[in-house]
Amino acid sequence: MRETDVLVVGTGIAGCAAALGAAREGADVLVVTKAEKPEDASSDWAQGGISTTGTDPETFTQDILDASAGTADEDAVDVLVENADEAVADVLVDTLGVDFDVEADTDEFDYTREAAHSEERILHVDASTGRHILRPFLNFLADHDSVEILEDTAALELVTHEGRVHGAMLDTETTGEPVYAGTTILATGGIGDLFERSTNPAGSTGDGIAMAALAGADVADMEFVQFHPTAYAGDDPFLLSEAIRGEGGLLRNGDGERFMPDYHADAELAPRDVVARAVQDEIDATGAVTLDVSTLEEPFDEAFPDLAAKCAERGVDWESGIPVAPCEHFLCGGVDVDHVGSTSLDRLYAVGECARTGVHGANRLASTSLLEGLVWGLRAGEDAVGVRPEAVEAPELLDRDPDLPERFAAEKFHRLRRTMDEYVGLRRTPDDLGRAQAVLRRLKGEVDAYVRTRTARDLYELRNASVTALLVARAAAENDESVGCHYVEQPAAADAD
Ligand code: SIN
Repeated sequence: MRETDVLVVGTGIAGCAAALGAAREGADVLVVTKAEKPEDASSDWAQGGISTTGTDPETFTQDILDASAGTADEDAVDVLVENADEAVADVLVDTLGVDFDVEADTDEFDYTREAAHSEERILHVDASTGRHILRPFLNFLADHDSVEILEDTAALELVTHEGRVHGAMLDTETTGEPVYAGTTILATGGIGDLFERSTNPAGSTGDGIAMAALAGADVADMEFVQFHPTAYAGDDPFLLSEAIRGEGGLLRNGDGERFMPDYHADAELAPRDVVARAVQDEIDATGAVTLDVSTLEEPFDEAFPDLAAKCAERGVDWESGIPVAPCEHFLCGGVDVDHVGSTSLDRLYAVGECARTGVHGANRLASTSLLEGLVWGLRAGEDAVGVRPEAVEAPELLDRDPDLPERFAAEKFHRLRRTMDEYVGLRRTPDDLGRAQAVLRRLKGEVDAYVRTRTARDLYELRNASVTALLVARAAAENDESVGCHYVEQPAAADAD
């Protein structure tokens, strides 16, 4: 029987920070990820950077609130801002030695700027900041005496008893087995796999949100799905960081005209939801939008060598403008948590993208996701210690089915993504949201029936995706106010006689 003081599910920056926070307090920590390599997490793909408070914490606070259209939770934002610089300095600079870019020939950090930030305050390493943070973090934890990391090990469901969470069922070669934990911290990342085009790695199926919701935890703000305005528009999309616009990149429509000044006073640096809808409108009206990088102070391939290389891999001639389109990027809502990541269920925490801290409200400010994961991860890890694991009765899982028809999962995922793209995307209508819920309920029923007959990781991912998709569609249908990244077109009022 396996036991641990603290179980962390997920190996992005939030999971790593949670493991570090708990281990520093003397706890034994088991970290599991379903990925084959622990670095296959969204954090590894983060480009723009990690925000500091800059020259003035109050201005940073105001920028977060403004980007959220005034909907972020001010107390949660205060927690983020008050802890930001110390967490970055302590963990990223002093403990991990992350080599953030510095100004030429100096030791001064080369802070950059992104949309809706009122100054240059973002630390970065090229446009691959996430990778340069996550890899040293995982190496550091792998060498830590009190931390064990298990890859290729999915958490299938939570072990609960009398309203408390006591660990999770982990998949094995033949079925699922419990790991009993004093506390369990979910850090499973986002929901990109619910959409056809996303900036998240494959496997972003909302697992933590679904497992928590199925165990009875509260979720919140699920309708606030952020679409990034500038992903490569062709096959195999990749993110073109907002930092490009922060450094002077411009958006042009299919007629070659710059359009953002017509949509917002801050033009290309308007809040992300505003730019995403404007880009889609211009694609609809003129057939295409391109990111013009000829206006950058430094040549694009010197300022953003990694992104120039990605363009080259796909045969995109960036000198003539890079075709872009909006693409699913980040879920602002998730499992509802307090200021230390504690959920509504005893002994269960959630951190990072799968959690809803209130910091982002209806729309997240750029380069605050790594920061939120770091700050809440540490706080949750520190808070989660001191509880002994108890071996309660665990759910009996069925034997693994080695012959799960791949077609079943592939067909259901296809239907789910088509439904989310068509009805729960950048612009929504009450009718479409009704349709989405009907399709998703049916689909979830079919998946549930299958889950009752066998155990298979794909099937659990599909179940998690269908639960999470339904939570998003339902929350969107229940909120008729267009705010931040939830934009709902109301039917035209019937003509009065
Ligand atoms: C970007 O680099 O544009 C993304 C940054 C973020 O999502 O915070």
